[in-house]
Amino acid sequence: MVTIRKVEIAEADTLLAYSKKTFYEFFAHLNDPVHMEAYASVAFTPQCIMDQLTNLDSEFYFALYEGDIVGYLKLNFKDTQNEYKDKNALEIERIYVSGEHHGKRIGKQLLDFALDIARDKQFDYVWLGVWEHNYKAMGFYERNGFELCGSHEFLLGEDRQTDLLMKKVCYS
Ligand SMILES: CC(C)(COP(=O)(O)OP(=O)(O)OC[C@H]1O[C@@H](n2cnc3c(N)ncnc32)[C@H](O)[C@@H]1OP(=O)(O)O)[C@@H](O)C(=O)NCCC(=O)NCCS
Repeated sequence: MVTIRKVEIAEADTLLAYSKKTFYEFFAHLNDPVHMEAYASVAFTPQCIMDQLTNLDSEFYFALYEGDIVGYLKLNFKDTQNEYKDKNALEIERIYVSGEHHGKRIGKQLLDFALDIARDKQFDYVWLGVWEHNYKAMGFYERNGFELCGSHEFLLGEDRQTDLLMKKVCYS
């Protein structure tokens, strides 16, 4: 059975290693290594991870199966959201499942977990940004009730990419 639990501050090193590993696993073959490295050298540092873990308006969760980390989730609230910054909205900034566990409904469990948090807080909607070329993730979000609602720029190193924004109303 998969369990989902909050990442503790003491697990910063584990979170850093897992988040960097999965970022390379899914995006290295689709991007210029120079841009990957430039992004990673800022986003996946001990200081950056610690800043995010100690931010009261961000939360990280691990999905665990038989004691192993098989996925993770990053949620942003209030002004920490990358767009909208609506106090009645929740951003899913990251949702990753290790490749060997894809298709086992772990992603859906993480997504439902985020939706439950938003509903408990009586938020209006959950939203996220997804790289316009990440067709697999877009299919997953559409299958789970998310709809396109805009776009914004995402800077991978010096590569200006377009993220499509998708949202799901909490009580639809
Ligand atoms: C996107 C991701 C989290 C999905 O996780 P997953 O565990 O493989 O997906 P699930 O098994 O939970 O799928 C849940 C449902 O969505 C459907 N689904 C999954 N991928 C799909 C796709 N590409 N297109 C259509 N439906 C899809 C499944 O069939 C399943 O449907 P069901 O409810 O009828 O059974 C996973 O593929 C991933 O980690 N990708 C790499 C990282 C990434 O791109 N993250 C998103 C960044 S924005």
